[in-house]
Amino acid sequence: RREGPGMSARSVRDAAVSGKRVLVRVDFNVPLKDGEVADDTRIRAALPTIAVLRERGGRVALCSHLGRPMGVDRALSLAPVARRLAELLGAPVVLVPDCVGEAVAACVNALAPGAVVLLENVRFHAEEEQNDPAFAKALAAPFDLYVNDAFGAAHRAHASTEGVARLLPAYAGLLLEKELTVLGGLLGAPVRPFLAIVGGAKVSSKLDVLRALLARVDTLAIGGGMA
Ligand code: 3PG
Repeated sequence: RREGPGMSARSVRDAAVSGKRVLVRVDFNVPLKDGEVADDTRIRAALPTIAVLRERGGRVALCSHLGRPMGVDRALSLAPVARRLAELLGAPVVLVPDCVGEAVAACVNALAPGAVVLLENVRFHAEEEQNDPAFAKALAAPFDLYVNDAFGAAHRAHASTEGVARLLPAYAGLLLEKELTVLGGLLGAPVRPFLAIVGGAKVSSKLDVLRALLARVDTLAIGGGMA
């Protein structure tokens, strides 16, 4: 645990969120098919954190990337995700057409406690991946608190994952916390024999993970695109 503004790993469970405008970074980088969400696992994984914030009267704006757009790309709009999330929550989820600017601030200021909106794909702005300080400031501006629940994107030092955490009181979401606890145990003092199964499509970014795992595991099994 590191102390100081935006530098701690405090849990969202300890956050005073009632009436607060909360920016929540989630990883809704989900597969799409025919304009709809083909696999909602990542959306479901964020539901516990969203539920805690809503129950406690937080005013919630979710922020995510989708794909790797070069500028604004309507095929990578989060609109299908907003539709699926609304179904899962049984509550309306407005898609705000951008993630920064006056329209976002107006929408967030009008949110009732417990209400949820989704901000449009944060990677429509090149400054996101550049971790541009001015962009991080614009992202943070309408909010009182920041929660990071985007475990799948936590290895990226981007404006919405790293930059904003320096600007707002920052908390770990329940998914992030759970993954860090499990990983910490596995990497620190694992029960043996220790078997790791690694799959997925993004092979190049996982080579370092494989190297790190090889030093720790008894057996490494590779599947999916990795194989
Ligand atoms: C993923 O799907 O691996 C994460 O959402 C990160 O996406 P990225 O590799 O495009 O940064």
